[in-house]
Amino acid sequence: MLTLYATIGVGYWYYALLSGRGPWMNHDWHKKYGPIVRIAPNHLSFNDHHAQKIIYGFGTENLPSMEKDPRFFTPEVDHSMNIINECDKEEHSRMRRMLSFAFSMSNLIRNEDVLIRRTDEFLNAIGGIEGENGERGINIVQKFNYVTFNIMGEMSFGDSWEMRLKEQPEHRYHWADVIVNSTYMNDVMRAVVCVPGLFSFLERFPPTHSRKTLYRHAEYATEHTEARLKLQTDRRDFMYYILHAKGPAATPKEIASHYNVIMMAGAVTTATFLSGVMYYLGHNRQALGRLQDELRSTFPSIEAIDSKCLLNCVYLNAVVEEGLRIYPPAGAAHLSRIVPKGGCEISGSFIPESTRVSVHSWSVLRDPANFHAPSQFIPERWIKTTPEGQKGDKLDRSLPFSYGPRGCLGRK
Ligand code: HEM
Repeated sequence: MLTLYATIGVGYWYYALLSGRGPWMNHDWHKKYGPIVRIAPNHLSFNDHHAQKIIYGFGTENLPSMEKDPRFFTPEVDHSMNIINECDKEEHSRMRRMLSFAFSMSNLIRNEDVLIRRTDEFLNAIGGIEGENGERGINIVQKFNYVTFNIMGEMSFGDSWEMRLKEQPEHRYHWADVIVNSTYMNDVMRAVVCVPGLFSFLERFPPTHSRKTLYRHAEYATEHTEARLKLQTDRRDFMYYILHAKGPAATPKEIASHYNVIMMAGAVTTATFLSGVMYYLGHNRQALGRLQDELRSTFPSIEAIDSKCLLNCVYLNAVVEEGLRIYPPAGAAHLSRIVPKGGCEISGSFIPESTRVSVHSWSVLRDPANFHAPSQFIPERWIKTTPEGQKGDKLDRSLPFSYGPRGCLGRK
């Protein structure tokens, strides 16, 4: 009987997730039942700041940092482990040390030409598109995914990126499309592992759709990794830092696995963010006008724009923060962790060891106790000198990149 209840419970949770209504349903559950909601038999959802600190933080003398949940962060389809899905703390630290130089501020500044060139390419492309297939307008979400794909690809693989794309029989953006289609499949696989035996069955008989998405994505990552490893170059792409990192060398399979997730974690999240911000600016003429005024009065031409100067644009940065708050690319996910041995107190309740716990960021960000008018796009809330900036918003509740030992490596 207990197993039946558990299966129904998990089934309902995955129905919420895969229906696309998960974020709203989860938010409603918190409104109805409070800061702790059991969303599946052994999984608790939290929506408060105290939980954010404990579940994702670095840990304390008495309470170690929480490990990632191996049922949520499963191995890739080729059974490889990487910086995102590795749950073992020591192994993850090794990976993070190896990759961290690639994502340092100095390396990003060194690669600024990639950003500028690829952004120019994007501007030229959308400037010239009147409409596709005889329709008015363009699919901007797709274009954002293509520009972030180009940026991530060139930063990752340097000179071999374009060479490899030209060699492939499929069209240039085939991998980008595969990545976008794989995001949904990732969630499907999380549901699959809950049904005993189903994962092994699907491994033996993979459905066409997973072959075209998850498997093809892993193959692309491997092909690009192998092509780049053959190239002798001193260009400081991400691979350069991986190959020159101190400590034991990673195998080609492990490196390809890191690229598998870096291409997804870097390209889709950023494109999703850009799409959300574009939507909200399009619906808020006042904010759009202020942003245009700031950029046009700060820079005499497009060529004068560089990332250091952009950091000083107060309104632009407020738009970015507000965009990440109202449309957080990873905010609807449950980045679940496992409560360590002995259990611990979270949000005023004792939670036993081995419980699956996570914070539903979407609910934190839409809670009027944290942000006034939470469903409205108000960049000014991030600027202390404006009236909206003095309404007591708890800005530190917005953690779009998570934080702690597993916080986003690509944040900068
Ligand atoms: C708006 C853009 C982005 C958002 C909102 C975002 C968000 C996040 C979040 C919430 C996590 C934590 C995931 C977890 O706990 O499992 C994460 C991890 C990560 N992100 Fe991002 N990310 C973004 C862009 C990027 C970019 C551009 C890159 C790469 C260039 C990147 C690379 C990574 C990596 C490697 C990790 C794993 C870190 C670790 O476990 O040590 N992200 N990101």
